[in-house]
Amino acid sequence: MHPDIREILFTREQIAARVRALGEQIAALYPASGRGEPPLLAVGILKGCVPFFADLIRALPLPLEIDFLSLSSYGAGTASSGQVRLGQDLSVPVAGRDVLVVEDIVDSGRTLARLKELLAARGPRSVRVAALLDKPSRRAVPFVPDFVGFTVEDAFVVGCGMDYAGRYRNLPYIGVLRRGVYGG
Ligand code: PRP
Repeated sequence: MHPDIREILFTREQIAARVRALGEQIAALYPASGRGEPPLLAVGILKGCVPFFADLIRALPLPLEIDFLSLSSYGAGTASSGQVRLGQDLSVPVAGRDVLVVEDIVDSGRTLARLKELLAARGPRSVRVAALLDKPSRRAVPFVPDFVGFTVEDAFVVGCGMDYAGRYRNLPYIGVLRRGVYGG
């Protein structure tokens, strides 16, 4: 275990098993697209989505395309108090398409609530959200992800895409950061 980690919440094996189950659950909701219809568009939100996104799309036994966007939080100090703005945009239109947004974590809910508004304005057929982790006790705005890997209490989690100051995203497990590391 990394010395900055206090406790492992979910091991690599637990995450892999959960992602397999999510893949089956999600695939069952999307009937095969008809001839000439565009397939499901899996949209990853950079950067935290990367490990979960890579695992999840390989667990989805259906035709799909992938794309990415980035969002930035601005505001008084913390992400949770800030406004969410679009950074890098998608490279394809989503009008008429089924869109599956893939995220590492839902915390205050601001990021995903705003993103769903942004995407809905473009006229997709559907927008659903898959999040590896959900922290419902931290919500500042109402938001319920359609698919959740794990629900957690309010702890400073890192790994599997989630960072502190840009680090720890590559840990293959999800762990709680030691308090001394982030001054908590
Ligand atoms: C994280 C995470 C979500 C967002 C969730 O992104 O990936 O996008 O925060 O928080 P919220 O529910 O309070 O809006 P971050 O801004 O840290 O960027 P990153 O993906 O590059 O780590």
